[in-house]
Amino acid sequence: MRRAVCPGSFDPVTLGHLDIVRRATTIFDEVVVAVGVNQSKSRLFSAEERLAMLERACAGLERVRVASFTGLLTDFCTANDVHAIVKGLRAGTDFDYELPMAHMNATLAPGVETVFLPTDAAWSFVSSSLVKEVAGFGGEVSRFVPDFVAEALVARLTSTDAATGPQAGG
Ligand code: PNS
Repeated sequence: MRRAVCPGSFDPVTLGHLDIVRRATTIFDEVVVAVGVNQSKSRLFSAEERLAMLERACAGLERVRVASFTGLLTDFCTANDVHAIVKGLRAGTDFDYELPMAHMNATLAPGVETVFLPTDAAWSFVSSSLVKEVAGFGGEVSRFVPDFVAEALVARLTSTDAATGPQAGG
């Protein structure tokens, strides 16, 4: 059984994330989509909300399960018999951000490989941060995220001033 993890903040999940998850299932036997829960970072959606959105978004994907983790990603990999970390790359800036993490993770867990997949060109400019910014200013984002996520964004961003608050990247 070759098991991979697609880790991220998923605040919120985008269609770009889901494309990477789906393509990872063509390479690995099982894919765990894992929400990193880092209490020190400000998020628009709680860990529970991000997990619930991912569960719903991945419901139609076979051999995919959703989880959350705290602490080191490599500890999650060891505890869950995960052999590979799959990350999507949109551009060179993603590579610059991801490469040191890949090296650190390889040092911490030598048996766990990082696999980079080029993001589908259709999603090359889509990030959770930009989607939140556009939605915060009333823009239409249903082309970039599942419909129910777009609705959750509108509900959250029109009920609070979260759109202008500190936000995570990704
Ligand atoms: O969607 P993001 O914000 O790019 O996801 C980043 C994430 C959660 C994958 C990354 O921050 C992570 O792996 N956090 C867990 C803590 C950890 O293992 N840190 C060392 C990484 S080298």
